[in-house]
Amino acid sequence: LRVEKQTKDSVTFSWSFGRYQLRVWHSPFRLEILCEQEVMVTFNSKDKLWFERLQHRPRATCCAPSGPSSIGADLCLHGFRHVYGLPQHADNLQLRDTRDGEPYRLYNLDVFAYPLYSRLGLYGSVPLMVAHKPDRTLGVFWLNASETFINIQYSDHQVTFVSVRADPQTDVHWLSESGMIDCMVLLGPSPQQLFAQYAQLTGYQALPPLFALGYHQCRWNYIDEADVKSVDAGFDRHSIPYDVIWLDIEHTDGKRYFTWDPVHFPEPAKLQQHLEKKNRKLVIISDPHIKVDPSWSLYCEARDRGHFVKDREGQIFKGSCWPGESSYLDFSSSATRAWYSRCFGLDKYKGSTPSLFVWNDMNEPSVFSGPELTMPKDAVHCGDWEHRDLHNLYGFYQHMATVEGLITRSGGLERPFVLSRSFFAGSQRLGAVWTGDNVANWEYLKISVPMVLSLSLAGIAFCGADVGGFIQDPEPELLVRWYQAAALQPFFRGHSANVTNRREPWLFGDEVTAAIRTVIQQRYSLLPYWYTLFHQAHTSALPPLRPLWVEFPEEESTFSVDSHYMLGGALLACPVTEPGIQEIKVLLPGSDEIWYDIHSALVYKGGRTLSLPVTLDTVSLDDNFTPNCNLLSPQGTADGELYLDDGHSFRYRDRKAFCLRTFDCNTVIQSVTILGVKSKPSAVIVHASETPTYTSMTPENKPPKQPLSNNTCSYCVSCYSGWLLRYICVGMCVFNISK
Ligand code: GLC
Repeated sequence: LRVEKQTKDSVTFSWSFGRYQLRVWHSPFRLEILCEQEVMVTFNSKDKLWFERLQHRPRATCCAPSGPSSIGADLCLHGFRHVYGLPQHADNLQLRDTRDGEPYRLYNLDVFAYPLYSRLGLYGSVPLMVAHKPDRTLGVFWLNASETFINIQYSDHQVTFVSVRADPQTDVHWLSESGMIDCMVLLGPSPQQLFAQYAQLTGYQALPPLFALGYHQCRWNYIDEADVKSVDAGFDRHSIPYDVIWLDIEHTDGKRYFTWDPVHFPEPAKLQQHLEKKNRKLVIISDPHIKVDPSWSLYCEARDRGHFVKDREGQIFKGSCWPGESSYLDFSSSATRAWYSRCFGLDKYKGSTPSLFVWNDMNEPSVFSGPELTMPKDAVHCGDWEHRDLHNLYGFYQHMATVEGLITRSGGLERPFVLSRSFFAGSQRLGAVWTGDNVANWEYLKISVPMVLSLSLAGIAFCGADVGGFIQDPEPELLVRWYQAAALQPFFRGHSANVTNRREPWLFGDEVTAAIRTVIQQRYSLLPYWYTLFHQAHTSALPPLRPLWVEFPEEESTFSVDSHYMLGGALLACPVTEPGIQEIKVLLPGSDEIWYDIHSALVYKGGRTLSLPVTLDTVSLDDNFTPNCNLLSPQGTADGELYLDDGHSFRYRDRKAFCLRTFDCNTVIQSVTILGVKSKPSAVIVHASETPTYTSMTPENKPPKQPLSNNTCSYCVSCYSGWLLRYICVGMCVFNISK
């Protein structure tokens, strides 16, 4: 940064050889960010910069001890007419002009059956707004964890400090209840650069253990050990793959987390071993409220060591939640987090084994007796911070402590898996989140798509919605459609509330069982692709789920689309979210692009909206353990990337034990499907470009049974079957297709 120009009214700094400039106007105070002399962003363009002076009043005399402490600022985003982000809201992806109603609110709350198309705050918050226009993606990150409101105003005319132009602009006004103004503008210019800039500030997506990308089966509640075993066996009996079964609050002894109901779960370790034999995991719930029970050692320990949040009078805060009267761990304290982490130690958490993973719920925090079902703002945390100052961080801190606990439990070797309902900017470093208590109807299925896209844009790439809808009973068609949609979302878990009917996939007749089996199997066939996408999110911050405009940034027709999206750079997913329909409309971007319907192998040119017929079987992707090689570019070439490691440890990080291969065209185990060949080939010759080598990350790797020879890939075809690409032949094959 260097001073480029100074006048009596302003000073101009520049960087990148003068391409970018920051101009500071003294009076009225403004900041302008310019690129090649064009103003992109003006800070305080409407003079709404605001802060209140802290006062020092004794705590007992007023509700906020420092007096009112709100802050605010406005920014003008020049040339932009599309802004996104600010999860979590049950609304479309593109943010609305708020002049017609409420501002967007960021305040983490437990909202059962949340209203749709609403700007009210839900379980988590990420104060990141992403603006996009054809030549630039830009972000505004407002780092503040108190209750925050955002107003948005779109206009067709651009008013800069010195001129008025017939260009669009978006005015944004941020207001927070307390804290300081810590506002970062991220300049992109590409979507990918924007994601990387944001990840440099808040962290990259954690690389999940491979099992976590499979299918999860949850219910409030599986009643007892026999019930869990029978559901587990049901998946085998119906040939439906799955990886994880979940236990909700009833598995505990009277909602005391870290305990087991002695009648229904007398042998939890054995249960986990039973599952682990099939390489399956158990997830249990662990909420932040602790039952007030002086006869329970964990409660006493937390109380005596000062790990609970206090009320304004300095007494331990009490509120009600699932166990009845409860106190709340003060996760903002590093000592409390360390203590809580240790509670997950295998020696301390009786009945737990290394194949047990965790789900943090109710961590907004939910307080049934509190204002808006949460903690009063004047509750007091360590360091005398009021709850109002850090409310939106409470769940993040619990998530962090749980993740630490699982890592420590394994001596730092194993990757954790922790799902959290509440979240904040940076939660992507910790694990997965879901969209909370949705309802079993078509509208909630539909909204799940923009909700997970919005989370993905805000860095939280490992996200999903309860399959089938948590509240009420889905009709079979809705259930199937939900599985089909959710199989194309990162976190894939069926879950249902205690008062709903049982919902295991085989309870609705053969047709439904078959449809669900197909879609879960397809999810598994795509696992290597998902895993590679998560590796990309982990290393370069590109989310697996991408709004179309992320891949086609110059195509304005994509800017408002949120019913379909890109899954990685190669697949366009268009879930069916309406009942009884016979066709869906899909926008295929890119007039130079060629698209293949994976199901029918039909070829379509991009740059058009397509109507595709659908039946109950129709899902947007088709594959039977056979990676496809689609000649995507107009030149008839294709490339791709594959990431592999042991799927569970940190060895990929600590010992670089992973394999990352770029493929030209494609070379695979079983067979290769090549779409886009203009006429029937008379011959296909396969050249091995090098002697094949084998990945060496796992003990399961076997030596080749027969060498690759004679210019054929029969070795690859016949030697190993199954989708386990771990056995892939790393030697590249080049296919020559003769006409
Ligand atoms: C909350 C959660 C839900 C869970 C229930 C009982 O409503 O969102 O997923 O099943 O609590 O723990």
